[in-house]
Amino acid sequence: MLFPDYRPRRLRQNAAFRRMVRETVLSADDLILPLFAIGGSNVQNPIPSMPGQYQLSVDNLVKTAKEAFDLGIPAVMLFGLPDKKDAFGTRAHARDGIVQKAVKAVKNKLPEMVVITDVCLCQYTDHGHCGIVTNGIIENDATLDLLAKIAISHAKAGADMVAPSDMMDGRITAIREALDESQLENTPIMSYAAKYCSAYYGPFREAAHSAPQFGDRRTYQMDPANSREAIREATMDVEEGADIIMVKPALPYLDILARLRDEIDLPLAAYNVSGEYAMIKAAEKMGWIDGRKVMMETLTSIKRAGADMILTYFAIEAAKVLKERTF
Ligand code: PBG
Ligand code: ZN
Repeated sequence: MLFPDYRPRRLRQNAAFRRMVRETVLSADDLILPLFAIGGSNVQNPIPSMPGQYQLSVDNLVKTAKEAFDLGIPAVMLFGLPDKKDAFGTRAHARDGIVQKAVKAVKNKLPEMVVITDVCLCQYTDHGHCGIVTNGIIENDATLDLLAKIAISHAKAGADMVAPSDMMDGRITAIREALDESQLENTPIMSYAAKYCSAYYGPFREAAHSAPQFGDRRTYQMDPANSREAIREATMDVEEGADIIMVKPALPYLDILARLRDEIDLPLAAYNVSGEYAMIKAAEKMGWIDGRKVMMETLTSIKRAGADMILTYFAIEAAKVLKERTF
C-alpha cells in the first residue's frame, strides 16, 4: 500500500481521528507515586535535585498520598529515612520503624490505597550498601534473612505489596517463603528484577541518604551494557514467585522493557527514576523544553514500550494533566 493510495496523514488531520487511532493511552491507573518518609511532624524538606519532591513526616506524607488517591492514582511506594543507621540496618525491620509507621498511617486514612514498600537495606546501613558487608564484601546469602525480616515487618504493618530493590540473588524465594510462613501468602512481591547500576539514581541517594560510603553497587546491580541478562534475571524472579517484574531505570532501558514484554507474561512495572525526573525539571527550569509536554511524552513512551505501571515522581502532576484533559 503505497502513496498515493495510502496517505498516513489522513488519520492525523483532526483531534477526533487522532484519538480514535491512538494506540497508547496513559491513565492515572498506571501511576505509582514514590514517597520519602522521615521522622517528626509537619516536616516537608525540599529535595534540591528533585524540585517538587520532599522528605515528608508521616502526617504530611498521608496528605500527599490523599492528594494522589483523589486524583485517581491507585498506589504509593514508600521509602524510609530512619532515625539511626547501623551495620545491619536494624531499623529497617523495627516494629516502630519509619516505613512501618507510614504504612499504618496511610492505610488508616486511605484503606483502599495500595501501599507498596521498598525492601532494602541501603537507607538503614551505616555503609550505605544494599546488603551485609563483611571485610568490604557485600554478602549475598547472609543478607537474605534480613530482607525477609524487613518484608514481613512491612506486611505486618499493613503493606499491600513488598518491593525488594537490593538485587541479591535468591531474594524472591527467601521473601516468598518467609511471607508464606507468616500467613502472608496473599501479599504480592513486586521484584526490581532488571535493576541496572545506574548514575540516574543520584538525586534519590541525596533524597534518601543512601549513597554507598565505599565502592559502588556494581557487584550486585546489573551492568548497563547487558540485555540478555535481564531476561535471565526476570525469568529467575518469575520462577521464584514474583508477582510483578520491574525494569529500572525506565527511559534509558526502554529496549529492555520491550524485550521483557515479549518474554514475560506477568505485569511489568517501570521505574522512571530520580535522575530522569531531575533532567526534565532542570531543562524546564532553563527554559529549554516544555516540561509538561516532555513529562507526558516520556510517560507515554514508557507505557508504549510495555509497562503496565510506572513508578514516577511525576505521578501527581501527570494525573492533574490527565484529569484536565489538556494533553
Ligand atoms: C535502593 C534504591 C535506589 C532507588 C530505589 N531503591 C537507589 C540505589 O539503588 O542506589 C532509586 C530510585 C530513584 O533513583 O528514583 N535500593
Ligand atoms: Zn538498596
